[in-house]
Amino acid sequence: MLVVEGLTCRFGTKAAVDNASFSVQPGSFVGVIGRSGAGKSTLLRMVNRLADPTEGRIFFEGVDVTALRGKALRQWRARSAMIFQQFNLVGRLDVLTNVLMGRLAEIPAWRSLTQLWPDQDKALAMSALEQFDMGQFAAQRADQLSGGQQQRVAIARALVQEPDIILADEPIASLDPRNTKIVMDALLRINKHFGITVLCNLHSLDLARSYCDRLIGMAAGRVVFDGQPSMLTDHIARELYDLEANDVIGGAPMPAPDAATAPALGSAAAA
Ligand SMILES: Nc1ncnc2c1ncn2[C@@H]1O[C@H](COP(=O)(O)OP(=O)(O)O)[C@@H](O)[C@H]1O
Ligand SMILES: [Mg+2]
Repeated sequence: MLVVEGLTCRFGTKAAVDNASFSVQPGSFVGVIGRSGAGKSTLLRMVNRLADPTEGRIFFEGVDVTALRGKALRQWRARSAMIFQQFNLVGRLDVLTNVLMGRLAEIPAWRSLTQLWPDQDKALAMSALEQFDMGQFAAQRADQLSGGQQQRVAIARALVQEPDIILADEPIASLDPRNTKIVMDALLRINKHFGITVLCNLHSLDLARSYCDRLIGMAAGRVVFDGQPSMLTDHIARELYDLEANDVIGGAPMPAPDAATAPALGSAAAA
């Protein structure tokens, strides 16, 4: 279980995240919602330790993540895999190598420099790509792929990290509706089939309602809602999004989630 206690991150006098406390049950798919500037990215970055809290603590399975240093910190970063809006692939490298980067925490440095990846890791990376229908692109340069394809590669890379939790920061913000559905379904699949906890920042309330089993609403750095999507009334949504509410709530209807119809699992990626 992930437990966040009184987490605060200040930049100068401004609190980007202000005394946030919540816990996340293993295996859940939690959406963090709120308007731009609410503190969603800073919150996720603190969990992954890309940003340091000014106050408060983060525990994962009883371990104080905020106190980790050196090797233990690197291991935590691998166990809490980040997925970004801009995919963060290495464009000039091929797709398979990009996925193999997810294994770096497990591999001695000399091996990654020489790109002598163990066969077992290559098989794992290939299987992860196949999970998301990206096997046929393994040898292509990452920068030749569409945005939706790149995000699927990024998700495959996160999967081979064998994470306990995936932290996705607006993973669909640069995608069209079709790719939005493909990428959200991929995240849902990771969650349902592999049992990996997902904490996902989302701007769209409709998406959050369709995919998440719990929502954490943020406004001005504070957690102002924490509950099941059905508990989030239009009234609260309007408070959360302020004047944006009509845009965010009344957008195009979202397609239904689709994890159940995804192809059957290969065994290697789950190993
Ligand atoms: N590195 C930083 N330096 C200064 N201010 C920052 C930094 N990162 C975020 N902020 C500020 O913190 C607030 C929350 O930002 P952010 O976490 O990115 O929100 P969200 O992801 O919900 O849009 C914003 O006002 C933003 O300008
Ligand atoms: Mg953000």
